[in-house]
Amino acid sequence: MYNQNPTLEGIGKKIDESKQGEVFFQGQFTDQGGAKRFYIESYGCQMNFSDSEIVASILGEAGFRPTRNMEESDLILINTCSIREKAEDTVRKRLRVFDKVKEGRPGTLVGVLGCMAERLKSKFLDEEKLVDLVIGPDAYRDLPTLVAGAEDGEKGVNVFLSREETYADISPLRLDSNGVAAFISIMRGCDNMCSFCVVPFTRGRERSRDCFSILAEATDLYNKGYREVTLLGQNVDSYKWENPESGQKVSFANLLEMVALVHPDLRVRFSTSHPKDITDEVLHTMAKYENICKYIHLPVQSGNSRVLDLMNRTYDREWYMERVDAIYRIIPDCAISSDIIAGFCTETEEEHQDTLSMIEYSNYSMSYMFFYSERPGTMAARKFEDDIPQEVKKRRLQEIIRLQNQISFKHNQNDIGKTFKVLIEGDSKRSDQDFKGRNSQNKMIVFPKKEGLKPGDYTTVKVYEATSATLKGNIVSE
Ligand code: SAH
Ligand code: SF4
Ligand code: F3S
Repeated sequence: MYNQNPTLEGIGKKIDESKQGEVFFQGQFTDQGGAKRFYIESYGCQMNFSDSEIVASILGEAGFRPTRNMEESDLILINTCSIREKAEDTVRKRLRVFDKVKEGRPGTLVGVLGCMAERLKSKFLDEEKLVDLVIGPDAYRDLPTLVAGAEDGEKGVNVFLSREETYADISPLRLDSNGVAAFISIMRGCDNMCSFCVVPFTRGRERSRDCFSILAEATDLYNKGYREVTLLGQNVDSYKWENPESGQKVSFANLLEMVALVHPDLRVRFSTSHPKDITDEVLHTMAKYENICKYIHLPVQSGNSRVLDLMNRTYDREWYMERVDAIYRIIPDCAISSDIIAGFCTETEEEHQDTLSMIEYSNYSMSYMFFYSERPGTMAARKFEDDIPQEVKKRRLQEIIRLQNQISFKHNQNDIGKTFKVLIEGDSKRSDQDFKGRNSQNKMIVFPKKEGLKPGDYTTVKVYEATSATLKGNIVSE
């Protein structure tokens, strides 16, 4: 599923490629004639998709209704990503499309949200004449006011980055809802300053959300029939929250345990873990609770210590390997996935080989793979020359993709004959006779339906066939 449309730039983004730009919402609103309508498209990582649900909630409170049809909307929003140049190119292409809609429907407002809004700020209004609103990730509460101003012809910009905002009190309007799995944002921002990365500039300082509001959201989702939550943050392992009244300190391991205790039938996932911060305590908590999924996204970026140092990742090859060993020791059935960057500044062929050997060492079930894209303002852009020729970057990326595909294939083949507890998510893409669902290791399994089972139910499936992307199986009686 991640490999549907392989491009050299990267065969998978944080959100599965087929969903990038998708507009979706649950039918939570009855149509109230005359209400203003908004249309929203999202790009980038899960955090952005999660933020779009907060935006939808804020606009809903202000009387707006969502629509899937941009031609009938009064407000077109695009939640943008800046992580690589290509992500920004995609946004600009979409803005051309919105311009056309605006020509045919004067008065429609166009707003740019998210990381690219934060990066370019008011420059957006100069570069893209038809954009009316530019709003950064911490300023979404201001949307209704800015929209009102724009309706009176006043273009609006709010890119203020906050040290406190976590939108803790806002109940997200679940846009992408299969009614089974949902995201819960547990922290915002990032303090890590990896030299290649634009996120600290677009999302500001790291802050953790009140753990009780997280628990309330998880409980509410369970009561509404959801059976899986993914706790989101750029670096979930550095989650820390202190109760201002009792002084009680809550670490990520503590939070994970609290969410796992909401209900044994509520699965818990999390993303993203940072290799420097993932503790044995987190691993032991994962091992202790059946409903904490045995899957860790642990981006390595490079397998070479010198390159990791230039990237300012603050761990080296040996440290990473030790963390991988600890995961397999404490949670033997855990799957690990990764993010990998090919062709970072000054990377040699031998150093690239270290990345290849790391893929084998870690036995990743899958990876998101990219070639390095210089981002203005980052430490790498300021300090290092982007000196690896494009053809070399692309060739190295191809080698990484080829090897990862082989490893994923073997990883999946190894599941043939095994049985897994699967949470049913819905019909498979290919046939309404089949269900699809994930196992604890985050692998998608497709299997024929059985009377009486529906999305949100658990079932046990035995795998009989595997490709590098999906498993096929049959329900076995429990
Ligand atoms: N917080 C996460 C990553 C978020 S960005 C972490 O630390 O792992 C998602 C991925 O995009 C990164 O892991 C990295 O592999 C990739 N990425 C980030 N900046 C990039 C750049 N300038 N060029 C290419 N890939 C990049
Ligand atoms: Fe970017 Fe590094 Fe923060 Fe991840 S941890 S968001 S790669 S700065
Ligand atoms: Fe996410 Fe892209 Fe921003 S990856 S944090 S939306 S730059």
